[in-house]
Amino acid sequence: MAAQEAGGVGRAAACLCVLCGLPAAGKSSLALRLLRGAAHRGWRASVVPYDDLILGQAFHTRVVEGDGVISNNHTEWRLHRQAVLRCIERFLENPQPSAQLPDGCPLNKAAWEQCIQALLQSEAVDRSAAGQAPLVLLLDDNFYYPSMRYEVYQLARKYSLGFCQVYLQCDVESCISRNQTRSKPIPSVVILEMVNRLESPNPQKYSWETNSISINTTGNLSTCDIQRVIELISSSLCNPLSPSVDNTEQKEADRLKCATSVVHQTDQACRRHISDAMKTARENQVAPKQMRSLAAQLSASKATFLETLRRQLFHEASFTQDEDVDIDRVVKRAVDVFDHEKKEILLRIIGEKQ
Ligand SMILES: *[C@@H]1O[C@H](CO)[C@@H](O)[C@H](O)[C@H]1NC(C)=O
Ligand SMILES: *[C@@H]1O[C@H](CO)[C@@H](O)[C@H](O)[C@H]1NC(C)=O
Ligand SMILES: *[C@@H]1O[C@H](CO)[C@@H](O)[C@H](O)[C@H]1NC(C)=O
Ligand SMILES: *[C@@H]1O[C@H](CO)[C@@H](O)[C@H](O)[C@H]1NC(C)=O
Repeated sequence: MAAQEAGGVGRAAACLCVLCGLPAAGKSSLALRLLRGAAHRGWRASVVPYDDLILGQAFHTRVVEGDGVISNNHTEWRLHRQAVLRCIERFLENPQPSAQLPDGCPLNKAAWEQCIQALLQSEAVDRSAAGQAPLVLLLDDNFYYPSMRYEVYQLARKYSLGFCQVYLQCDVESCISRNQTRSKPIPSVVILEMVNRLESPNPQKYSWETNSISINTTGNLSTCDIQRVIELISSSLCNPLSPSVDNTEQKEADRLKCATSVVHQTDQACRRHISDAMKTARENQVAPKQMRSLAAQLSASKATFLETLRRQLFHEASFTQDEDVDIDRVVKRAVDVFDHEKKEILLRIIGEKQ
């Protein structure tokens, strides 16, 4: 069975399968069922449990940011996530894989060994065939921003692996009631905050998310759900990603796309702010001559503002390179700055009226 599955022309050696969704949406239960399904297909499979690999306060710090509810260190959480991917990369590169973590790796040693042992043990079952049996890694984390999932995609692309994503769609009430039966329950603020953050896979917006499915985990998982995921993994093993011809070119393309989108959205939002300001001025009986002056000043201010923003986004290398880019947040921050300028202009004009 395993031998038939393995070694086909163009088949990937491994598949990285991202399981994403709210805490307590049922990712771990799904992963366990998938392991059985994978074994049935003759795949060597294991779960990469981020919650166990990433220890201590990182578990909380990664979630709530900036609002002081839970102390946050986004940078630290990000470094841990990247460490997980680096360990996977090392494992994939090593022809004689071992369960040892590299020196200085901040991850939980026992959890990593368990993950790797699961792969190595399935190899021991049938050594002759298993060497070629595809590897399936089920990455179990919330992965609430696309940028977090994109890091996994990039790794899959670098090594011509299969890549797919499963979004576990689950209503908040079910997650919360499931949480209560867990051994390590999660504070309510964390689940609720994550509801606001979560951006589920969106292939219309990001073509690299094409290979994604959603399953409804509000109720019990059905055999059919498991089958759909197994088929998705099977199909991604048959269609490995091609490494980008030139990674820097791709990076630059991604950066520009992101910057363009920020400028566009900010422009739209500024227009709305301007029309609100004009409305306020009219309601304050500002004279027509001053209305024209207001329109001209706001328009000039917007043009200067957008030009500065564009310059910053397109020429500052830091943008998108060392931060999880949340476009909406960047836009919001920019619009807040413009809104401040707008108010000053508006107040000045309304003041002149008297
Ligand atoms: C966050 O973590 C990083 C890396 O561990 C560290 O360099 C930085 O000082 C931390 N920042 C805060 C505010 O704790
Ligand atoms: C999760 O369960 C714990 C313990 O039962 C509880 O303290 C916590 O508030 C729950 N979180 C949510 C979001 O319900
Ligand atoms: C998910 O399944 C539950 C029952 O298990 C159902 O009530 C709900 O409508 C489903 N949600 C969607 C989006 O299909
Ligand atoms: C889910 O499974 C449990 C136990 O297997 C069962 O008691 C329950 O009725 C099931 N719920 C649904 C909605 O099928």
